[in-house]
Amino acid sequence: MADFTHRTERLVLRDWRDEDWEPFWRHTNTPAVMRWLGGVLGEQGMVAAQERLLSYTRDHGHTFWAVERADDGEILGFCGLKRCNQKGGPIGMMEVGWRLREDAWGKGYAKEAAIASLDLAFSRFDADEVVALTVNGNTGSWGLMERLGMRRRKDLDFEDATWDTEDPVMIVYSIDRADWEASHG
Ligand SMILES: CC(C)(COP(=O)(O)OP(=O)(O)OC[C@H]1O[C@@H](n2cnc3c(N)ncnc32)[C@H](O)[C@@H]1OP(=O)(O)O)[C@@H](O)C(=O)NCCC(=O)NCCS
Repeated sequence: MADFTHRTERLVLRDWRDEDWEPFWRHTNTPAVMRWLGGVLGEQGMVAAQERLLSYTRDHGHTFWAVERADDGEILGFCGLKRCNQKGGPIGMMEVGWRLREDAWGKGYAKEAAIASLDLAFSRFDADEVVALTVNGNTGSWGLMERLGMRRRKDLDFEDATWDTEDPVMIVYSIDRADWEASHG
């Protein structure tokens, strides 16, 4: 299968290349970026995460793609689509996710990449509904879900202490095809 690549106004979402991992981890494996993701990873954690991202492409044809800035080719982080695989969660549902390096926050890159990912979910990967998961403390992430027009789905929340031991609840948002097309079509 040809490598996936998708261009937005300022970004390229694409399949991972071997040379992406070093800059990706250098810029994103920081206390601020990993604050709600279990903290800074060791070598084993990074290798396991890479393996998971590559396995989503092999299994489903989409993943949390590398996000490259079109202007200068810098790797800003990832954004894209996987199938929810978190124990207790809405397993198998299309899930949108994001992680950008700190110096790329506050510029609308995450929203731009997320809009492209949701468009692709409905237009190319045949989703009927897309979920997004986070924890209450991660205001940056659920704030983005709300700016995207996703709706809070308390009925899909589930317990998982992996990311926030003090508030061990994964909160879920979703948007379906009709609502996405009405707001972004
Ligand atoms: C979650 C995350 C991706 C959000 O990134 P972000 O940069 O805050 O999100 P956006 O792209 O929506 O940018 C938002 C801000 O950029 C501002 N902005 C600046 N220039 C802009 C432009 N040209 N276009 C659009 N927005 C712009 C917007 O006003 C907005 O600010 P506001 O929220 O005060 O209105 C980021 O915080 C992150 O990577 N966190 C760490 C990893 C993580 O926790 N991931 C989620 C796990 S569940």
